[in-house]
Amino acid sequence: MSDLTVHPASSRRRPLHPEITEELIEVLVRAFYARVRADGVLGPIFERVIGEDWEPHLAKMFAFWSSVTRMTGRYKGKPMVAHLRLKQVRPEHFEHWLALFRETARDVCPAEVAELFIDRAERIAESLQLGMFYRVGMPVDEFRKA
Ligand code: HEM
Repeated sequence: MSDLTVHPASSRRRPLHPEITEELIEVLVRAFYARVRADGVLGPIFERVIGEDWEPHLAKMFAFWSSVTRMTGRYKGKPMVAHLRLKQVRPEHFEHWLALFRETARDVCPAEVAELFIDRAERIAESLQLGMFYRVGMPVDEFRKA
């Protein structure tokens, strides 16, 4: 048999892992932002922009993680634009965000699935940071120190 199988479009839309469901995403996102809100450093940054009504932000984040890990295309926003507006955010906040995210993912998800979420979060954080903090002429590995 030939290897030249044409995969139906649906096979490209498979989740990164069969255990990543919309329900798991909702549990993870709610647990993560509960920790963010309770956090002395990140809490106030989010509170300033989001205020008291977190449901619209959470719904957006369910769609975002569904697109990233289940290829559903549910998220339509522009994360870079949203973060460029956050003038008080510094590179060290990203390390802190990632530490909370890793901790939550490992608490809430099966081990293999947690690492998949963490890997995607780390890559997206890297690209957001490049957009927010990198300036032409900086050595790329040093832009975080700016
Ligand atoms: C220091 C780290 C971070 C801080 C302080 C932060 C803060 C925020 C805030 C305040 C908003 C709401 C913006 C608004 O409604 O105008 C937001 C939106 C968002 N954040 Fe972050 N964020 C951080 C890192 C990340 C990372 C690493 C990711 C992805 C893995 C991410 C994904 C998103 C997405 C998808 C939105 C929704 C954007 C939209 O469509 O409006 N954020 N973030």
